[in-house]
Amino acid sequence: MKGKILVTGGTGYIGSHTTVELQQAGYEVIIIDNLSNSNADVVDRIEGITGIRPEFHELDCNDYDGLKKLFDQHKDITGIIHFAASKAVGESVQKPLLYYRNNLVSLINLLDLMPQYGVEGIVFSSSCTVYGQPDVLPVTEEAPIKPALSPYGNTKQINEEIIRDVAHAGAPFHSIILRYFNPIGAHPTAEIGELPNGVPQNLVPFITQTAAGIRQELSVFGNDYDTVDGSCVRDYINVVDLAKAHVIAIDRIVENKCKKKVETFNLGTGRGLTVLELVNAFEKVTGVKVNHKIVGRREGDIEKVWANPTFANTELGWTAKESVEDTLLSAWNWQVKLQEQGK
Ligand code: WQD
Repeated sequence: MKGKILVTGGTGYIGSHTTVELQQAGYEVIIIDNLSNSNADVVDRIEGITGIRPEFHELDCNDYDGLKKLFDQHKDITGIIHFAASKAVGESVQKPLLYYRNNLVSLINLLDLMPQYGVEGIVFSSSCTVYGQPDVLPVTEEAPIKPALSPYGNTKQINEEIIRDVAHAGAPFHSIILRYFNPIGAHPTAEIGELPNGVPQNLVPFITQTAAGIRQELSVFGNDYDTVDGSCVRDYINVVDLAKAHVIAIDRIVENKCKKKVETFNLGTGRGLTVLELVNAFEKVTGVKVNHKIVGRREGDIEKVWANPTFANTELGWTAKESVEDTLLSAWNWQVKLQEQGK
């Protein structure tokens, strides 16, 4: 066993894929999740893929005493990957306090407990949303942080600042901030994937549900942007590729290879695709039509953003490998399996 890793939000979309990769790399994983946006049966599904059952605790990261009890039970946790957070941009505008409480208090609790239990480092889930609309594309980690467009985006920025301030104050651990672009797709086994609550807000679950006939039509938000076909550009990154970057980040902490107290990496492919290009790629690779219509712009959308992933490529030795076609196919296979299971 390489070490014991606490994964917060481990039954969620990216957390579950990362747990699988960590186990397959030889780490022992303890999952905590409050199940606010996921289901406990994900633990069975993870076990189904890896043959190893991760220890699971239904626990909210805002519960300081509950966290302390967990650390008392597991005094040998070497690292934390902190996924647990509320993540719906629209909801955050309606319920800002929920977002500030959930997303800030949970990180503060973890950073407070880490030195007490000798935890060596934390990997934090951040987002390309911190760049807003970058002035220069592809965007590097040095690009300026722009004012957030939503309370959700603001929590990611503030979380990054909290991490930097705590490091500056001499915290005895390393932090790796990973800025995700747009994670999509599912595990190749189709045992785990994205399971949105209600009507999906994100593009790919909406595409797969429309293709499956659950939704009548996809609304493409805007065709008058300054892009090749007028729809927005994003950098869509395969979720398993993304998960693998977390294992490399944890290796870096455990093997004492961090070069600074806080390191920040973009996790993207380096390639931007428009909404319409993505829809076309999905139709081509699956042979299934996606009814869609052009509607007005969605408030708060960034026109175009894609990563310069060079720093992650060279420093972490990580590169996004899966093609967007295979990734879209994995999302479709997952959707088909969900329907077969009546979900
Ligand atoms: C992608 C593109 C939409 C739905 C958000 C968060 C970000 C993040 C990922 C974490 C946009 C268009 C979408 C639809 C559409 N991280 N679209 N019709 O907004 O880039 O990023 O999710 O959780 O922090 O901000 O992702 O998937 O919502 O949209 O045309 O029904 O698809 O306009 O151009 P986004 P998305």
